Amino acid sequence: MEDDVLVIGGGAAGLMCALTAGRRGRRVRVIEHANRCGKKILMSGGGRCNFTNTGTTPANFLSANPHFCKSALARFRPEHFIAMVEAHGIGYHEKELGQLFCDESSKQIVAMLLAECAEAGVRIDTNCAVDDVAALPGGGFRLRTALGERRAPSLVVATGGLSIPKMGATGFGYELARAFGHVVLPTRAGLVPLTLSGKHLEHYADLAGVSFHVSARCGKARFDNAMLVTHRGLSGPAILQVSSYWEPGKELLLDLLPEHEIADWLLERQREEPAAELRTVLGDVFPKRFAQRLCEGWFTSKPMRQYTHGELPAIARQLANWPIVASGTEGYRTAEVTLGGVDTDGLSSTTMESKHQPGLYFIGEVVDVTGWLGGYNFQWAWASGHAAGTAA
Ligand code: FDA
Repeated sequence: MEDDVLVIGGGAAGLMCALTAGRRGRRVRVIEHANRCGKKILMSGGGRCNFTNTGTTPANFLSANPHFCKSALARFRPEHFIAMVEAHGIGYHEKELGQLFCDESSKQIVAMLLAECAEAGVRIDTNCAVDDVAALPGGGFRLRTALGERRAPSLVVATGGLSIPKMGATGFGYELARAFGHVVLPTRAGLVPLTLSGKHLEHYADLAGVSFHVSARCGKARFDNAMLVTHRGLSGPAILQVSSYWEPGKELLLDLLPEHEIADWLLERQREEPAAELRTVLGDVFPKRFAQRLCEGWFTSKPMRQYTHGELPAIARQLANWPIVASGTEGYRTAEVTLGGVDTDGLSSTTMESKHQPGLYFIGEVVDVTGWLGGYNFQWAWASGHAAGTAA
């Protein structure tokens, strides 16, 4: 056979796997159906690629088996990727909460991965669709591709999730997994804006562009960050984060003033500014348009002195437990990630190899491991790619 390892998908996980296996002297070929590799890396982090998070722990990931990601994450840590970035002279900075971004462009990360692949002798076939995959009777795999037949003892599936179909996302990896006897857990869009409809949309739609800090919570998940009102619903990091935990029917609550002990604060303002209207008081902590809306839609604005001591705590409770009735999400068109995917029960957590088919590996987003917003998804792509690359 001409190749030792075939990697389907030249994205973050596939390229990391390829360069790792190539460095071990394996003859590696990446098969990418798009016209270039790493398109999602290019568009990530607003063009600056949030390539890792220095605070990565298994708690930053969603999966039916929260333990599965531990081994790979422990063996390829953020500092390992940072060392590669530094060795290539790529400038970077921490934006917030351990999130590392390129100073200049995400193109540098793709160029770095391709340079490492070239150095390791990895061959890359772009514009190469895979038509058929079959296991060979004596072991190994045969692929029929647009560029001819390929055979190798190891096959790594790194085809990513379903988000942003126009960037080349396909369900190919899931179909292949099923064909080899794997369970594929239901998929849905994650890190995605939420949509509102009917009266719930009417309350917010003309506030599009308004943004402020909230704490969004769904079940046990809680995220303190900015929320942005859009024309169709709600977005911003706090909403994107909590969207991965939300499903229709689940309660979603916002603390609209997470930095305040709201009842104490309102009572203090009542003492200090008895003649000020509630609208004015709320306008000091919320964008003016939102404060105005609160006092048109939910509260009656009157001078602070006119509120009884029971009324202000009631307003505080409402502000701290603000229900959001989402009608759905913006879906895969804008989602950063896909939740669900190849069930980790069928994979080795140390090598990502299939328990059903020797020589077959699944890495990256196609697997049922999904990170929070903030560089965690790339860290999973690097770590799982590295795990398979050291074994395949
Ligand atoms: P990825 O999608 O990177 O690669 C899969 C590859 O397989 C693609 O090149 C695709 O064309 C190819 N492919 C698919 N089907 C194929 C087939 N049948 N045959 C051949 N090739 C096939 N994460 C993060 O940590 N920090 C960030 O800043 C961002 N920002 C961000 C922005 C946007 C807009 C999106 C959509 C996503 C992010 N993410 C992110 C998420 C991150 O991009 C994502 O989790 C990783 O790219 C997943 O890496 P994979 O290699 O698994 O899939």
